[in-house]
Amino acid sequence: MGNITFVMIKPCAVSHEHIGEILSIINKAGFHFVSIKMLHISKSQAEKFYAVHAEKSFYKDLVEFMSSGPIVAAILQKENAVNDFRKLIGNTNPANADEGTIRKMFATSVQENAVHGSDSDENAVIESNFFFSQIERFYR
Ligand code: CMP
Repeated sequence: MGNITFVMIKPCAVSHEHIGEILSIINKAGFHFVSIKMLHISKSQAEKFYAVHAEKSFYKDLVEFMSSGPIVAAILQKENAVNDFRKLIGNTNPANADEGTIRKMFATSVQENAVHGSDSDENAVIESNFFFSQIERFYR
């Protein structure tokens, strides 16, 4: 069981001014911020980050969307971080997300679903390494 996960606040939630609310919910749920930054990723960076979905029908649209405006990227620390964070954000499709989850509150569609969270400990490490160097990390 790992103790970090990786999160992105997606362009839709950034443009709707939800950064502060989402970060506050994450903090109140007991996650410690190890690293955090705001940046605008290029198409080729989005392609690399989501390479695992390259064969999916939604891949091209996803890449366009994720490179359409700034995002907030962060590494979070907590016991059982990946699973606890997935519970906090809710189902990928906001129509199926539970009340009180971040996606229920802020997502507008399955693509514009407000936040990304790692789906495994292995991917949490890979995704964290994609965005942050070791000297940008402040563990508890
Ligand atoms: P995320 O958790 O970032 O991982 C992959 C993303 O692909 C997902 O959230 C959605 O934003 C996007 N996506 C678009 N269409 C679909 C779909 N039909 N099923 C799953 N993910 C989708």
